[in-house]
Order: sequence, then structure tokens, then C-alpha cells
Amino acid sequence: MSTKRVLVAYGTRHGATAGIAEQIGKTLREDGLDAVVLPADDVHDVRAYDAVVLGGSLYAGHWSSKAKHCAERNADFLRHRPVWMFSSGPLDRSAEEHDIPPVSAVAREMQLVGAREHMTFGGSLTAHTPGFLAKALTRQGKGGDFRNPERIQKWAHHISAELVAA
Ligand SMILES: Cc1cc2nc3c(=O)[nH]c(=O)nc-3n(C[C@H](O)[C@H](O)[C@H](O)COP(=O)(O)O)c2cc1C
Repeated sequence: MSTKRVLVAYGTRHGATAGIAEQIGKTLREDGLDAVVLPADDVHDVRAYDAVVLGGSLYAGHWSSKAKHCAERNADFLRHRPVWMFSSGPLDRSAEEHDIPPVSAVAREMQLVGAREHMTFGGSLTAHTPGFLAKALTRQGKGGDFRNPERIQKWAHHISAELVAA
């Protein structure tokens, strides 16, 4: 059986979601899959991949438009592949304490492409994050890196297990 090719695509503003995508890609490769990590804007044809993981950051309750447009642009081919989606957002430990369902826009994209599952991961906002609102939030003590490497790896292992079993 040939090695399965997996695309991990991400829509990010300031890099936090890219970091999660890189970690998913690394774990999939450790599990023996051929995983490629790309910005969602660069994904124009998914036919070379057996499966796709697509993630985006959350801003004011909305999913990354880069991730959303990627799903819509590639919907016809995504529908014929296993797809997993994720969001990066909460700036606290809530994503570790309970499953946070996809926001409505993500739920719509999941339905459009027939995605299997969604996961919400904690996000990251640090003193280096640019933007007026980001600065205001960090001044209020609402920043921090809430990406949990173990949770990200666990989810990636779960994806590998499903792909290897298929
Ligand atoms: C102005 C602003 C609005 C945000 N809104 C949300 C939100 O509605 N829901 C959420 O879970 N996280 C929210 N966040 C947190 C971001 O989603 C988090 O920092 C994310 O990891 C950023 O990812 P990125 O660097 O890939 O863009 C917000 C952050 C900022 C700065």
C-alpha cells in the first residue's frame, strides 16, 4: 500500500494557527504519512492529496476567511476526500476543559465538504501580536499561549489512525 498524502492547510493572521498546523503535520509524518503543510491561500488543487486537514483562527466569532475561501474554492474535490477541520481561538484553558463546537460558519463549511470532525484548540496572543485590539487585550492580561502540544498531537494521532485503518 502506498503512503497516504495529507495536506494540512491553515488560515492565520499572526501565526498561531500556522504553528498548530505545523505540529499536526509533524505528528502525521512521525506516524508514517506524507504530510504537507501550506497556507490556505496557496491551496488551489487538492487532487494530489488523499486527505485534508483545514484550520483557521477565530476573530470576533468568525473563522479565518482564508480557510473559509479555501474550503469553498476546493469544495468539489474535498467532498471526495476525508476532511478534518480545526479552529484556533480561546485565550484560556476552556478548549482543554470541554469540547468547543465549531462556530456556525465552520459548521456550514463542514457540511459543504462533508468534513468528518472538528476540533477547537486554544489560541495564542502574545505581546508580539500586532494590532490595536491585540495590544489592548494583552494589556488587560488576556494574552498568553494556550496551544496545548499534547492535545494537538493526540488529535493528529487520531487522524493518522483513521487514515491508516481506511
Ligand atoms: C481582536 C481579537 C478577536 C478575537 N476573537 C476571538 C473569538 O471570537 N473567539 C476565539 O476563540 N478567539 C478569539 N481571539 C483569539 C484568536 O483567535 C487567537 O489569538 C488565535 O490563536 C490567533 O490565531 P492566528 O495568529 O493564527 O491568527 C481573538 C483575538 C483577537 C486579537
